[in-house]
Amino acid sequence: MQKLIINGGKRLRGEITVQGAKNAALPILAASVLCGGEVVLHNCPRLSDVYSAMRILTYLGCGAGFDGTEKNTVTVNTSVLDKYEISDKLMREMRSSIFFLGALVGRTGRCRLSFPGGCDIGRRPIDIHISALRKMGVTVNEEYGCIDCLCENRLKGAKIPLSFPSVGATENIILAAVLAEGTTEITNAAREPEIACLAEFLNRCGADIRGAGSSTVVINGVSSLHGCEFEIMPDRIAAATYLACTAAAGGEIIVKGCVPRHLDAVNAVFEQSGCSVHCTEDSVFFGALKPLKAVDIIRTMVYPGFPTDCQAFVMAALCRGEGTSVFVENIFENRYSHTEELRRMGADIRTEGKVAVVTGVKRLYGAKISAPDLRGGAGLAAAALSAEGTSEISGVCHIDRGYEDIEGVLSSLGADIRRI
Ligand code: UD1
Repeated sequence: MQKLIINGGKRLRGEITVQGAKNAALPILAASVLCGGEVVLHNCPRLSDVYSAMRILTYLGCGAGFDGTEKNTVTVNTSVLDKYEISDKLMREMRSSIFFLGALVGRTGRCRLSFPGGCDIGRRPIDIHISALRKMGVTVNEEYGCIDCLCENRLKGAKIPLSFPSVGATENIILAAVLAEGTTEITNAAREPEIACLAEFLNRCGADIRGAGSSTVVINGVSSLHGCEFEIMPDRIAAATYLACTAAAGGEIIVKGCVPRHLDAVNAVFEQSGCSVHCTEDSVFFGALKPLKAVDIIRTMVYPGFPTDCQAFVMAALCRGEGTSVFVENIFENRYSHTEELRRMGADIRTEGKVAVVTGVKRLYGAKISAPDLRGGAGLAAAALSAEGTSEISGVCHIDRGYEDIEGVLSSLGADIRRI
């Protein structure tokens, strides 16, 4: 079992270029199934979830692999696709396996898979995905944890108002609709930038999608797609993670190759806590040179609100903020597992349902802690960087699902971190 060993108390300094976005790469890898040709993806992060998506593509009969010379280039060839079902074992490896639902039904009219795995952050139903597919003419049977989809003819475009702007459902509907007959209109769609990135990729392959990134997305079905070469957008959550690590440990860093406006809601919180944030078109200049102040209230919301994915590591930074910070987690019901580990490090956090109350303490202390999930694990790393003494973080496999070489990136900023 691998562990991260962190000796805290070192200020971070330097510049990094942020990795490609996991939450854009994964739906795009699934979307490549629709192209029936060769897709070359640049800036694709080397993450265990990306390897899981490539294993699913290979299982389906497609070719998928990282380029031998370009570290972050993936080539996928989906001209051959000889299965429409995915094994339970592969589905359980990650949550994003669910994107193969829309992609396979869109290409073949058939799909059989089990419920996806992923982080344990509360109930993650897919009822919105399924009811949308039914509206498009797909017969969906759910039994014994298995989802069986069949549409004898081409899927039919439909008007689909979402009861909640789910990221995954919006993406799955887009995937199912690109090759459908007629027009699909999604209203109350999720507006996350990764959705715009998926649509941009599909449009590059010959799809006709408008409005992605806004709350109304219109997809005019086309008869076929082709391959393309595409660059995955920068990872706003990874960028925010390294800012939170700096806020926690103190220091000054430059995060290059990001889209600062995607970080507006998180940067507003950092500014309230006393950090300095200056943005150019593609970089954030970030300074945490004074002790942090508490932030009155932070509510997680759908984009462009404060992302649920940033809650854990911003909380870790605010454990030493002077005063009391209140968090309200509105998206997932079980997203405070990291608080128990933070308490072991000396944090003063009380949780009650959706709310966590963080009273700033003077010091955190190194401890043996375990990453409960991906972003919770990143939160523990941030806390360990600001703690006195040595921390040993187990459960690193969760962290590796979303961060490419986290110890390399943090070491380059002067952190004392290694993997054993
Ligand atoms: C996506 C992100 C994930 C992020 C989350 C919230 C990807 C691959 N994953 O996850 O990293 O943490 O958005 O920003 O981009 N819901 C339903 N029924 C459904 C679908 C969702 O009730 O059919 C509910 C969920 O229980 C949850 C909320 O909607 O309370 C948000 O879910 P959703 O936006 O779908 O998140 P994911 O796509 O799972």
